[in-house]
Amino acid sequence: MCGIVGYIGSRPASPIIIQGLKRLEYRGYDSAGIALYAKGTVNLYKTLGKVAELETLNDFAAASQCIGMGHTRWATHGIPSNANAHPHTSSSGELVLVHNGIIENYDALKRVLVKKGYTFQSDTDTEVLVNLIEDVQKTHNYKLGKAVQMALTQVTGAYAIVVFDTKKPNELVVAKLGSPLAIGIGDREFFIASDASPFIQFTNKAIYLEDHQMAILKQGKKPKIKNIKDGLVIDYYLQELELNLEQMEKGGYDHFMIKEIFEQPHAIKNTYRGRLLVDQSFIKMAGLEDHLEKLNNANRIIIVACGTSWHAALVAEYTFEDLARIPVEVEYASEFRYRNPIIAEKDVVIAISQSGETADTLAAIKLAKSRGAFVFGVCNVVGSSIARETHAGAYTHAGPEIGVASTKAFTTQVTVLTLIALRLAIFKGNISNSDFKHHLHELEMIPEKVEKALESDAQIKVIADIYKNSANCLYLGRGYNFPVALEGALKLKEISYIHAEGYPAAEMKHGPIALIDEHMPVIVIATKKGHYDKVVSNIQEIKARKGKIIAIVTEGDVDIRELSDHVIEVPETLEALTPLLTTIPLQLLSYHIAVLLGKNVDQPRNLAKSVTVE
Ligand code: F6R
Repeated sequence: MCGIVGYIGSRPASPIIIQGLKRLEYRGYDSAGIALYAKGTVNLYKTLGKVAELETLNDFAAASQCIGMGHTRWATHGIPSNANAHPHTSSSGELVLVHNGIIENYDALKRVLVKKGYTFQSDTDTEVLVNLIEDVQKTHNYKLGKAVQMALTQVTGAYAIVVFDTKKPNELVVAKLGSPLAIGIGDREFFIASDASPFIQFTNKAIYLEDHQMAILKQGKKPKIKNIKDGLVIDYYLQELELNLEQMEKGGYDHFMIKEIFEQPHAIKNTYRGRLLVDQSFIKMAGLEDHLEKLNNANRIIIVACGTSWHAALVAEYTFEDLARIPVEVEYASEFRYRNPIIAEKDVVIAISQSGETADTLAAIKLAKSRGAFVFGVCNVVGSSIARETHAGAYTHAGPEIGVASTKAFTTQVTVLTLIALRLAIFKGNISNSDFKHHLHELEMIPEKVEKALESDAQIKVIADIYKNSANCLYLGRGYNFPVALEGALKLKEISYIHAEGYPAAEMKHGPIALIDEHMPVIVIATKKGHYDKVVSNIQEIKARKGKIIAIVTEGDVDIRELSDHVIEVPETLEALTPLLTTIPLQLLSYHIAVLLGKNVDQPRNLAKSVTVE
């Protein structure tokens, strides 16, 4: 978490940094800060809260300094405050640094530095790091690059840093371990950021630093990339980026979240484009073809993920077992990594992550690899740490997801996982040709059907208004739609702060039914395919206890309409594909409730888009 931006070149740095920080606010927004250098002086501006607050401190548009760095913070060490906001300076004021990550041994390092006379203004691990670099520099009379390299060999934890030395004002030094760092290469200028979005309008050429790498960036010179462990200069790969600026903007919508909800038909099409070959009755996935045997021979598949991606994994558990007949276990990455899991030689691990940077998922992958497992990644962000750490993988191609609450990430992950399950099912001979073709055809129709499901937007807004003041909310679903119930509840709680629980509908009678009274809205996913009669019985049970029923039903259903307070229709499809449709009204319901309550839907409190800490 936290976003960092840096610039060195001949343009005024501040508009680039301020705009860049706004694009990175999805990574945290507890505080913001900027450091600009000119004529021997570093000007520092910091504020609690968002970048918009920072802009009120100075006329940055008029600032002409051409070197600078900025930071938007998700607090780890130290409360959100001005003092704890980055950039941080060393005791002498000569070094300036921004940091994304956690220095785990900061306390021990700090004690040594305090003994040497260093003083600290903040509670952060970052201020320890900048002083450590200064100490190494002064003790050995090193240049900045060497001091950064040597200091980092004493550090444990994770970092992406930008460091500036007022004594050497024509260079920035950057380094990475565990947290992402991209360097945009312009014409005699460098842009540094946690991802490419801050500089995509200036250059589409970037270097993504690998772990244990650092770069010395001097204006007008080639970047010098070094290995932090031994200080040796190494070659780098210049990547051509495919992002465009339009994808990074709201495009007329009030919020990124609603834009991303409405982008789903297009996003799902992008996910299966070139892979779903209905005419040839074939699924072609470049990242999968070479490893089909491995998956085919797998004793079981273990899927690791967090949050919404974990819900997509639960849907995949149904699809893989149902269609491909491969046993699947779904694990929270954070639990898997710490519980000494049994991984057999023929197990395959699939890791799912929108950002590709989630620390727990990354650690779970490393653990699985260390035990000999083959790891397949499903990521959205191209070139992300998880995409690079896995043996093979498939991108979701959802385009940038900026709203903190995942929407199109979920549906595109489910799409990729369904494609994989179907490819394996036909490869293993576990599905008939006609059934396979039927699934391909129905999957191709999904974008159109999502479009149809989105037409309920106005109706859902009315329902949101009725229930916006509820204190609690229950979400029920069965089979493929049980994970959708979990995802619906997560969406509501994370953006509206209303307590919500997702349950398998049949579990209700084992406890949660005690909660039901006339004040409890219960959202029931009750589509025709999949345990319909059983869900109808569950609805009866809720009605008997005066719960308010909002049912998500298949188009044309009349039976449930009679039992429910509200019905929201989605088009009919195959059971395995229903999550792609039933999740749409739940996303819209959460969105409208949060907006009606005046919440910040794109940047809910305490959250960040990319969870790069444990
Ligand atoms: C919820 C949400 C989070 C993420 C989780 C994993 O809307 O966005 O629960 O799904 O933090 O993130 P990724 O998929 O980037 O690994």
